[in-house]
Amino acid sequence: MEGFTLLLFGLAVLKTIAAATLRDTINTLQPINDGQIIVSAGEVFALGFFSPSNSKGRYLGIWYYKIPIQTVVWIANRDNPLTDSSGVLKLNETGLLVLLNHNKSVIWSSSTTRSAHYPIGKLLNSGNFIVQDGNNNNEPKDLLWQSFDYPVDTFLPQQKLGRNLITGLNRYLSSWNTSDDPSRGKYSHQIDTAGYPQFVIREGTVKRFRFGSWNGIQFSGAPQVKQNSIFRFIFVSNEEEIYVKYDLINKSVLHRLVLATDGFLTGISWSYEENVWREFARVPVDDCDYYEKCGAHAKCNINNFPPCNCLEGFVHSRQYTNGGCVRRTSLSCYGDGFLKFSGLKLPDTERSWFDRSISLEDCRILCMKNCSCTAYAALDISKEPTGCLVWFNDLIDIKEFTESDQDIYIRMAGTEVEAIQSMQSHKSNIRKQKTIIISCVLSIGILLLCLTFIIHRQWRTRQKGRKMKSDLEEDASVTNEHGNEDVVELPMFDLSIIRSATNNFTLENKLGEGGFGSVYKCSNFRILPEKESNMATFFADEKKSVLLDWPRRLHIVNGIARGLLYLHEDSRHRIVHRDLKAGNVLLDCEMNPKISDFGLARSFGGNETEANTKHVVGTYGYMPPEYIIDGAYSTKSDVFSFGVLILEIVSGKKNRGFGHQDNLLAHAWRLFTEGKCTEIVYATIRDSLNLSAAVRLIHVGLLCVQLCPDDRPSMSSVVLMLSSESTLPQPKLPGLFTTRNLVGDSSSSVSYQQYSNNDMTVSIMSAR
Ligand SMILES: *[C@@H]1O[C@H](CO)[C@@H](O)[C@H](O)[C@H]1NC(C)=O
Ligand SMILES: *[C@@H]1O[C@H](CO)[C@@H](O)[C@H](O)[C@H]1NC(C)=O
Ligand SMILES: *[C@@H]1O[C@H](CO)[C@@H](O)[C@H](O)[C@H]1NC(C)=O
Ligand SMILES: *[C@@H]1O[C@H](CO)[C@@H](O)[C@H](O)[C@H]1NC(C)=O
Ligand SMILES: *[C@@H]1O[C@H](CO)[C@@H](O)[C@H](O)[C@H]1NC(C)=O
Repeated sequence: MEGFTLLLFGLAVLKTIAAATLRDTINTLQPINDGQIIVSAGEVFALGFFSPSNSKGRYLGIWYYKIPIQTVVWIANRDNPLTDSSGVLKLNETGLLVLLNHNKSVIWSSSTTRSAHYPIGKLLNSGNFIVQDGNNNNEPKDLLWQSFDYPVDTFLPQQKLGRNLITGLNRYLSSWNTSDDPSRGKYSHQIDTAGYPQFVIREGTVKRFRFGSWNGIQFSGAPQVKQNSIFRFIFVSNEEEIYVKYDLINKSVLHRLVLATDGFLTGISWSYEENVWREFARVPVDDCDYYEKCGAHAKCNINNFPPCNCLEGFVHSRQYTNGGCVRRTSLSCYGDGFLKFSGLKLPDTERSWFDRSISLEDCRILCMKNCSCTAYAALDISKEPTGCLVWFNDLIDIKEFTESDQDIYIRMAGTEVEAIQSMQSHKSNIRKQKTIIISCVLSIGILLLCLTFIIHRQWRTRQKGRKMKSDLEEDASVTNEHGNEDVVELPMFDLSIIRSATNNFTLENKLGEGGFGSVYKCSNFRILPEKESNMATFFADEKKSVLLDWPRRLHIVNGIARGLLYLHEDSRHRIVHRDLKAGNVLLDCEMNPKISDFGLARSFGGNETEANTKHVVGTYGYMPPEYIIDGAYSTKSDVFSFGVLILEIVSGKKNRGFGHQDNLLAHAWRLFTEGKCTEIVYATIRDSLNLSAAVRLIHVGLLCVQLCPDDRPSMSSVVLMLSSESTLPQPKLPGLFTTRNLVGDSSSSVSYQQYSNNDMTVSIMSAR
């Protein structure tokens, strides 16, 4: 027992001795050899020699003392490793830290502007390694050098990142080359002092991500970097220095910002519960963060498709390679005005000018007076918007945020300002109108259903007694049996309301004729601008066809796919459209596709997935073989039609009326199997083309038109295929059933009622 007590006592003594040897300083007499470390007073950080994993090189660095995963935050000799463990760090009388190798040559040293009397080096709990000059009385010491001034890839709390304008010192982050190699990698994060200062992540010399200018609250391009429950950011810009730093609200949290080897600036915290580092934020966040993603005068919003859109008053231009935008109305200088934009990341300030003392109103006057001034904004919006920031060049690298307090005033021709402002004042009206349009469309649908129901009832009564039963009746009655439930759930409208909404069913409001009646639009509300009312005309008209560039075509395909997916799987009843074709896809002025004409649509209840009809109705070129021959239809028939549409959209050619020996499907199949499928692509869009995306689209198209319905993917798979990069299965032979087979084959028991060379919906009566 005594022995045990003695042992415990002995251990305690050893521990005390160990603690006593944990020094946090280095002086001129006590160098640090490889294998020795110094530890900050609170045991947060350690300084010593280390090798990164998979590396033989020895480096002098600073890491977290208590974290089991060695995490290095600073390195002295990142570009000049020691080759063995004979390295030694000395503090010499001048006050310089020198790192010596085996033959005593200096491979790294610190710097100082003046020589010291009693220099001492000290590792602080912040991770900062400092050299101070004291005197023998231990009075306040002068700072000679600090490791915080020479960051590697890690930005710690209380550290300054930025420039000292007097000494020229530039503190910036640069990534490690690889995770095993701390030498300077290709990414850097530093302040750009041209124009209004802004932090930029660069790859080499190329801008990759811009935080945007500080507006008193946050960087305009990184709303995630602002005061929160974890840290407080401080941005200082004056005659002497420009820097950013941050403080932790809870000082006991271990937190670091790292410019990773892949160029992402990453926020990482230590999780004491799990004993791992947890990443909680990183920039760039999305594609729209990449510098100048959209070109000049365009805003990028990842939630839009396509993400790039011109700012109001600007239109797409071919002049800009990045697909930027130019003014719709050119400036006239003295007749110009300013239009206010909200929620935008402020454009690149590289060629901007600023003055903190000017009010926003004076800023406006100043910008108005100089004809080359293109925009202005307040510098500080933390309280009242104050200060003046003006741009003199094209406005580039603008991201759109859903919420932001930042406003920018962009110079526009006076007429343009008026036009846009009057349009904006109608915006709330338009929102109201949208609701009404939807109600109108719904009500017309209901009206048509009611009419169908009534007509059908009357027709049935009239038919009573007569033995003759048309196939059409069978068809229509099924629709109603399942359709009734829908009708009950939909809001009902008085005939009088619909009558007034359609201007008493005036011919002007008639959009077209569906299988069950006429379709009207509501007065005052343009569903579609007349000149762009429907997709087929884009194919027919060469000039319009050019308007459909590759991103638009992709957009249309995706839109139709989502529409069909909704009909097939997301709506309450499975709906098979049965007549999907270019002519039944309407494009609105923003080129959003809308599937229309549900005249032939059939809804399936419960688990029903397939049906047969003797009355084959559809459009040649879009109908799958099993439907034409057996009258069998299912969601897979729509998938077939969709596949045809894809190929048509990509090629700009119609399946029927295709100029070649074989039809479009056969042509596409042949080129695909020969590995030359990009030849299908419509000539004028080849420039704007993403080759691999085009090949993928054609591939998906061919999967949709496979002969056997079971082989065709469901619309949900199609949507997935279109949106992901997953590997696609090989397509099998397409359903190459053409009207030539149909008409020419005399043994076929199919006869046709109407036949026309255009894309008319036809009705085929089977004589089985
Ligand atoms: C301290 O080291 C620096 C750099 O190697 C050297 O220039 C200087 O002369 C040294 N001073 C003394 C007193 O050794
Ligand atoms: C010290 O060693 C390095 C290589 O390890 C060599 O390049 C250098 O010339 C040597 N210097 C002296 C003074 O021997
Ligand atoms: C960075 O790493 C790459 C390959 O990983 C290597 O080729 C290159 O030389 C390294 N650069 C430096 C400066 O060590
Ligand atoms: C600060 O963080 C530590 C470690 O996560 C936690 O244990 C402590 O409760 C926090 N303190 C406050 C005041 O939030
Ligand atoms: C407009 O501003 C630019 C950039 O600051 C300046 O070079 C130019 O002289 C100014 N023009 C006038 C008329 O003030």
